[in-house]
Amino acid sequence: MKNNDSNRIASQVKVLGISGSLRPGSYTRKAVRIALEGAREAGAETLLLDLREYDLPFSSGNPRERNYPEDVYRLREEIRDADGVILGSPEYHGGMSGVLKNALDLMGFKEFEGKLIGLVGVSGGVMGASNALVSLRNVGRALHAWVIPEQVSIPRAWQKFNQDGSLKDEGLRDRLRRVGEQVAHYSSLHALDQEQAFVKEWEIAPANPGGSRQRKLR
Ligand SMILES: Cc1cc2nc3c(=O)[nH]c(=O)nc-3n(C[C@H](O)[C@H](O)[C@H](O)COP(=O)(O)O)c2cc1C
Repeated sequence: MKNNDSNRIASQVKVLGISGSLRPGSYTRKAVRIALEGAREAGAETLLLDLREYDLPFSSGNPRERNYPEDVYRLREEIRDADGVILGSPEYHGGMSGVLKNALDLMGFKEFEGKLIGLVGVSGGVMGASNALVSLRNVGRALHAWVIPEQVSIPRAWQKFNQDGSLKDEGLRDRLRRVGEQVAHYSSLHALDQEQAFVKEWEIAPANPGGSRQRKLR
């Protein structure tokens, strides 16, 4: 996908970032911020939500619960209003953080169905955040969202960032930005209501080397 191609249409979409770490100086928050830069560069309006600013109780498990604090409904509205979401999680004991899982449990199809989701994971250890990423992908599927294939895991995050929040490794930075760029681009494709515009934009989607085209060649 060429950057200027995605710029053409992604200006109509809004991409939210959510970090599943509440820690001051969180590397997950820094990583999500960089992914959002990619979305912004692709032309999307972006916003990094900070879960520390929301009074979120544990999910009661009742889908018709009416007695949640106002912030639950505020978060639902903000997510509903977005076209795409970048979810970032630290690896905690081989999974996503409880903070993020609970926030997602307070949401539902109304917030996520049909949304584009990009994933970012951060870990302290060498193994990276692959468990958190796999479980986030499952949650996205369960919420009927479109989780894009590309994702980024940052192992040993404490070694990877500069003081100003930028990444030392440019390749890693570019991969993070690409997640944001793709979320912006596919969100905008999803939002198109004109067939011709959709087809034109779809042409710059990654090629599928297999499928029916490949079968015809055999
Ligand atoms: C409760 C807890 C569990 C953790 N479990 C793991 C783990 O299983 N694997 C790992 O590599 N790091 C683990 N870590 C380290 C975090 O992934 C690491 O500190 C990361 O940077 C936290 O994200 P943050 O910087 O956004 O707060 C754990 C940290 C905490 C607080």
